[in-house]
Amino acid sequence: MNEKNGFTTPIRDLKIEAVLSRLHAAADAQEEEAELAARPSNLKNTQWGPDFLKDKMIPIHREQGAFLYLLARSIRAKTIIEFGTSHGLSTIYLAAAIRDNGTGGQVIGTEFVAEKMAHAQRNLEQSGLARFARIREGDARQTLRDLPDGIDMCLMDGFPPYSLEVFRLIAPRLRKGAIVVVDGTETLREPQADFLAYLTDPANGFRYTELSIGDGTGLAVKDA
Ligand SMILES: C[S@@+](CC[C@H](N)C(=O)[O-])C[C@H]1O[C@@H](n2cnc3c(N)ncnc32)[C@H](O)[C@@H]1O
Repeated sequence: MNEKNGFTTPIRDLKIEAVLSRLHAAADAQEEEAELAARPSNLKNTQWGPDFLKDKMIPIHREQGAFLYLLARSIRAKTIIEFGTSHGLSTIYLAAAIRDNGTGGQVIGTEFVAEKMAHAQRNLEQSGLARFARIREGDARQTLRDLPDGIDMCLMDGFPPYSLEVFRLIAPRLRKGAIVVVDGTETLREPQADFLAYLTDPANGFRYTELSIGDGTGLAVKDA
């Protein structure tokens, strides 16, 4: 299940995989239109508010989901922050990892489109993962102002011009060795250039690289 071109998830749970399979198939069907709107040459005039691609899921790719799940398993993550939840595909991969780690904990997601948040909540419930995630509704620049200390991991997948401002709220709460994953480092490099520069500047205490997974995946580890 949840296969495309022979790809299989590492999540061995038929209920979760059925939901992921359905959601990825629906997103694939929407992709062409979303990709046209998000083509780098079109992004210059984008109004990066809740209305941009409001009716589109624009989720992470299957390979990124598998990557996130395995990363969260390998560090036995308990607290994961997700900037940009949409319909909750990435949330499902991360919440499944927390469940399978068996150490307790939660994903704290963020979404400023109420309809998307409702979809995410329903998808988490259908996956049997609702108690492993809490989505905060509203602009992440406000909703992530109060975060717990000792965060193990974060996924940066909201709209890129907001990433640095949002990350400045998360960074002080990340534990040493915490992992940061950034989506869209190839297609969305320009609108998040300030954020990527922040991660690569040694003064900010992160080690950073990029992988050719999905539309480009940034990977950072908190050094100090
Ligand atoms: C690329 S999608 C996230 C996809 C999701 N991570 C997944 O894999 O299914 C980005 C989402 O972030 C939301 N978003 C963008 N900027 C935001 C902000 N400042 N606060 C809250 N949500 C935001 C958008 O509404 C959109 O649904």
